[in-house]
Order: sequence, then C-alpha cells, then structure tokens
Amino acid sequence: MGDSVALDVLEHEHDVIRKAAAGMEALAARLESGRTVDVNLLNGVVEFLRVYGRACHQRKEEDLLFPALARRGVPSVGKPLGSLTFEHLKEWAAVGALAGAIRSYAAGDRDAPARVIALLREMAHFYTDHAWNESNLLFPYAARVLTPIDQAELLAQFEIVDREIGKDVVERLARFGEKLAEEAA
Ligand SMILES: [Fe+2]
Repeated sequence: MGDSVALDVLEHEHDVIRKAAAGMEALAARLESGRTVDVNLLNGVVEFLRVYGRACHQRKEEDLLFPALARRGVPSVGKPLGSLTFEHLKEWAAVGALAGAIRSYAAGDRDAPARVIALLREMAHFYTDHAWNESNLLFPYAARVLTPIDQAELLAQFEIVDREIGKDVVERLARFGEKLAEEAA
C-alpha cells in the first residue's frame, strides 16, 4: 500500500469531477445550438453535484482532510484551507441556482435555457479550476505534511462516508459523471 492512499482517493474523485465538468460544457453547447436536453439528464447533473460533489467528495475534504492538515500545523483560516472552504460554499450556492433554473426549464420558461447554459458553464469552470488548485497545490503539500498513519486513518474515514451514502450510489454517480459528455452529445 502506498503512502498517499487517502489523497489518491480524492485525486480519483477529481478525475471524475473533471470529466463531469466536460459533460456540463457539452450540455451547455447542446442547449446553445437550440437542441433540447432531457430534464432527467439535467436533474442527474444536480444529483451528481449534490451527492458526489458535495456529500461525498467535498465532505471528505472539509470534514476530514482539512482538519487533519490543521492538526499538522496548516492554518485553517486564509490560504489554502480557508480559501478552498469558501470556494466550496460558492459552488454549493451555484448548485442551488442551477436546480432552480432547471425547474424553470422543465416548466417551459423561455428565459430558462440561457440561465441553465450560463450556470452549467459557470459550474464547469469553477469545478475545473478548483480541482486544479487542490490537485496541483494542496495535495502535493498535504502529501508532505501528512504521515502514512494520517493517510491510513483518513482512508478508513473516507470509507465510512461512502458507506453512509451507499457504495452503489457513489459508484453509479461516478459512472454518470464519467459518461456525461457522451450522453450530452
Ligand atoms: Fe476536491
């Protein structure tokens, strides 16, 4: 077992999230070309963001990784942890706005497609940038600060998060995120 077991899990989730972000761009392009998108697929994006992005992934970072780093002396306010937590909050607000825009789209509101397009793009850019910051700046730093025992403990706690959500749910949503670009085509 490698020493970066916990960070490897988060990195894998970032891969899924990056693919889902590409899928959100593809959905936005489809709507922009005047074609319709199945409301179930759009609601699937919201579920992916809420359950996989927030309840599964961000919770592992905010509730488990960041406190573990703070215990190793990384400041919990300011950069990097305070800023990343603030970005999570902004993402969370944008998911609520997207869910609202999708409801208007489903109701046939004429202005809704433009709002759905803008929010899908905003979320896609946001997630891509945020994952880049964590993968390229935070995780290499975390890999130096955390001990192998810290990482093993985090891995066990990550397992509990997945089990609470349901491993089958997490896997289904990961596949949804990975295949979103194909579905959107
Ligand atoms: Fe992350």
